[in-house]
Amino acid sequence: MNHASIIGIGTSVPKKILTNQDIVNMGIDTTDEWITSRTGIKQRFIADAETTSSDLAVEAAQKAIQKAKIETSDIDLILVATATPDYNGFPSTACIVQQKLGISNCGAFDISAACSGFNYAISTATQFIQCGTYKNILVIGVDCLSKIVNWEDRNTCILFGDGAGAAIVATSTDNNTIINTYLHASGKEADILNIPGGGTKKPFSKHVLEEKSHTIHMDGKAVFKTATNTILPHIKSVLAQNNKTAEDINCYIFHQANKRIIKFIKDKLNLTNEQVFSNIETYGNTSAASIPLAIQDAINNNYIKKGDLVCLCAFGAGFTWSTILLKWGTN
Ligand code: ACO
Repeated sequence: MNHASIIGIGTSVPKKILTNQDIVNMGIDTTDEWITSRTGIKQRFIADAETTSSDLAVEAAQKAIQKAKIETSDIDLILVATATPDYNGFPSTACIVQQKLGISNCGAFDISAACSGFNYAISTATQFIQCGTYKNILVIGVDCLSKIVNWEDRNTCILFGDGAGAAIVATSTDNNTIINTYLHASGKEADILNIPGGGTKKPFSKHVLEEKSHTIHMDGKAVFKTATNTILPHIKSVLAQNNKTAEDINCYIFHQANKRIIKFIKDKLNLTNEQVFSNIETYGNTSAASIPLAIQDAINNNYIKKGDLVCLCAFGAGFTWSTILLKWGTN
């Protein structure tokens, strides 16, 4: 069996920053204090009308390709994890990314696992590398949730931001490999976080538009409870299966959904500040981009170094959750 490793990473966010105060100024009945204390978010980046998910994805991909020191022609497969594709239905955003990068004739497809999407895509790429089918896979997590949020709903519009993160998963040449990947889902919780309208269940119509059911609907308390109830036993089980203790991990990157969820897990596992990186205050919840954006900032801030044992832990709509345990393979 071959081993897989992340050999390059790159990120991208739109230019426009929207602060909590900007949201208050838009007439939303909220305050900077409420948003900061309940979520940890201070600002988020928002795409303009012309910017698509594939635009952000391509910028992140170009940086990852450069970092990995490979050529675009070396890429054997493109996986794009997103809940906000350029087109509803088809073509996939992965195909648009392929075209924009000027790559011809490699496989390309999207993965739908909401905020767990980047981990799901890394896991999928890992299997292709391990069984020897491909050597270099471009994995992207990208979302522009600002385009599908109801900007009149204070329960949701304060939470999300836009961004992209890309990774090159390649056949490993040293011991810094992806050790194990774990994917889970529980469709029983599908209703706690969803977009009710615009799909085959409730096709797009004037009614859908009027009731805004084509935007994000969330039972925040249920999401909070499901996330904390699920992630804690899951991480404990992953650690046990790999004969590791919580303190063996150099850095945990949790999906940046809410600083209180991250703190809950950190406290329960007795983790130190040095073991847990968070950048939610800067980006908000960027869904599939959240983990790679946090990895990049963790590297920049010296939380992750080459050879470190890293745990990437994602959760999101579905309900889906996923953990990846790896030895970090690049600077
Ligand atoms: N500003 C001010 N008040 C608000 C706001 C706001 N933006 N939003 C809600 N409130 C009010 C509510 O109306 C409610 O008022 P009431 O008591 O008069 O009814 C009060 O604040 C408390 O609301 P709660 O929903 O109980 O607030 P809570 O402490 O649960 O925080 C939050 C809400 C932040 C959404 C929290 O439940 C949460 O973070 N849940 C997890 C959400 C999440 O992580 N989602 C994404 C994860 S999955 C993925 O990433 C796709």
